[in-house]
Amino acid sequence: MRRKRINILLFILISGFLGLLLIYSANPGLSQDMTDEVNPSKGMANNMYAEENEQCFRCHGEKSYVLEDTILGLKKKVSMCEQNRLDRNEFYNSVHWSFSCTDCHSYDYFEFPHPLSLRFEEYLNCIDCHGYDDNFAKYKFEEIEVDHMKSTHYQTSDGEFHCWNCHDPHSYKLLSRSSENLTEVILESNLSCLKCHGNTDVFELLSDKKLGNIIPQHDWLPNQELHFQSVRCIECHTEVNDSLLIAHNIMSSDSAVRNCVECHSQNSLLMGSLYKFQSKETRLESGFMNGAIIHNNSYVIGANRSRLLNVVSVLLFGLTLLVMAVHTGFRIIHRKK
Ligand code: HEC
Ligand code: HEC
Ligand code: HEC
Ligand code: HEC
Ligand code: HEC
Ligand code: HEC
Ligand code: HEC
Repeated sequence: MRRKRINILLFILISGFLGLLLIYSANPGLSQDMTDEVNPSKGMANNMYAEENEQCFRCHGEKSYVLEDTILGLKKKVSMCEQNRLDRNEFYNSVHWSFSCTDCHSYDYFEFPHPLSLRFEEYLNCIDCHGYDDNFAKYKFEEIEVDHMKSTHYQTSDGEFHCWNCHDPHSYKLLSRSSENLTEVILESNLSCLKCHGNTDVFELLSDKKLGNIIPQHDWLPNQELHFQSVRCIECHTEVNDSLLIAHNIMSSDSAVRNCVECHSQNSLLMGSLYKFQSKETRLESGFMNGAIIHNNSYVIGANRSRLLNVVSVLLFGLTLLVMAVHTGFRIIHRKK
């Protein structure tokens, strides 16, 4: 009887311990930390200008619009070309969800056909609104701009390569800060490069060069598909910048990372780039655990620096020994009786 009770007690103790470990390694603090940037009140219903914006969305938010000749009283349906189409849902969930279209575009766009002069209108740059503003200090827009100006994009285009060529002002979301899902962060980031490097029409608007095919250009990389799903293009193509979360200096391709060990090693370069935000947050949260690598689904071979896992395995080993010792102890005591 007594032995049975002790066995039950032991069982409860061990399951409790394992349960605690599980909870700890799921680390709920992490997800809270990373989503605190999301403004809960986004959405069309909360935008003061939604009605006014509909004046633009009725054409720019649809695949087609109604062209009207008010003098002759004629109407017909015409298609809205894809480049000029915006998605309401994306807009109202982007960082600029609270804007009116005319915050950035001329009021004269209410006229249709739009006056020709508008086509030569200079767009506002990100820095015009975000530079030297304490509300946005943590993003370091000024430093990003300096980094961007060193990039091959900027240098080879006489400065015609703008921030908005990568960051669509109508849909940009702060994924690397707001998403818990590393796979999504990587996908979105890579799509922002591929919208040019995978599309001749867009590419050739900016360059007289012919667009090369990036798949044969990365033939030297084994498991290319897996790599493109597990790391961002910018991991290999930017110069690591310690003061920025996202380095912006895209170097010419002869300086790109090709060396496997840069990632497949204990001090993987990914700790300073892809896992930077997560690892900083987790270090604050839980002291020694390297959450980034355990919590995301891409685990880089050779880069496991989790002391937690080491401690856990030692603990589990110790515990097994202890259980065996106690068990044997009781058996001996009971046999004596
Ligand atoms: C009746 C449909 C219609 C309405 C309403 C409309 N647009 Fe347009 N818009 C177009 C079409 C068609 C084009 C592409 C041809 C052109 O530039 O005229 C265009 C082009 C544009 C362009 C791109 C110009 C360029 O340089 O390529 C911008 C920016 C724009 N519209 C903004 C707006 C804004 C802002 C509003 C609301 C205030 C608005 N539009 C309302 C039909 C419309
Ligand atoms: C935060 C500033 C900002 C806001 C808000 C904004 N735009 Fe734009 N818009 C831009 C910039 C910058 C460009 C140039 C982007 C480019 O060339 O890729 C642009 C380009 C466009 C174009 C040309 C097609 C394209 O994407 O290049 C259209 C059409 C357009 N805007 C319509 C709108 C409408 C409609 C709204 C309101 C729902 C709106 N914009 C709100 C900054 C803004
Ligand atoms: C017309 C001024 C203006 C322009 C141009 C502009 N922004 Fe913004 N942006 C703002 C304002 C204002 C907010 C805050 C919106 C809110 O949350 O109500 C904002 C929000 C943001 C945020 C989120 C900040 C946060 O802490 O929530 C980011 C990131 C951002 N913008 C990036 C950009 C980028 C990149 C560009 C250029 C492609 C750009 N912005 C162009 C005015 C602008
Ligand atoms: C070649 C493409 C490219 C260009 C050009 C570019 N960016 Fe970025 N930027 C990125 C990518 C990729 C990310 C990471 C994706 C994300 O937002 O999570 C990023 C992230 C950012 C962030 C978020 C950083 C953070 O700390 O969370 C800001 C702010 C930003 N860029 C501003 C700018 C400004 C301002 C410019 C122009 C001076 C610019 N970017 C030009 C590709 C670009
Ligand atoms: C708006 C279109 C556009 C986007 C978005 C874009 N690129 Fe580019 N990229 C270009 C063009 C155009 C060139 C060629 C410039 C030249 O040499 O004429 C280029 C050149 C490059 C080069 C240099 C190749 C060489 O010959 O040395 C690299 C590397 C590169 N891009 C990487 C990236 C990465 C990484 C991203 C995403 C963060 C990105 N690009 C996003 C248009 C784009
Ligand atoms: C593992 C590192 C790595 C990743 C990830 C990577 N690249 Fe590259 N990339 C390189 C290297 C190294 C070269 C130079 C290859 C050469 O010169 O033979 C290169 C070459 C290029 C070139 C120039 C080709 C030329 O010679 O004109 C472009 C453009 C490019 N990459 C874009 C991208 C884009 C877009 C992505 C994301 C989808 C990406 N790269 C992902 C390492 C990488
Ligand atoms: C920019 C960082 C980076 C570079 C550079 C890099 N890798 Fe990787 N590699 C990764 C990541 C991240 C994964 C994904 C691991 C996963 O999801 O299982 C990966 C996966 C792999 C895999 C697949 C393992 C599996 O589970 O199937 C092999 C093999 C590999 N890399 C070999 C290489 C070789 C060889 C090189 C040099 C030519 C290289 N890698 C360069 C980051 C990198």
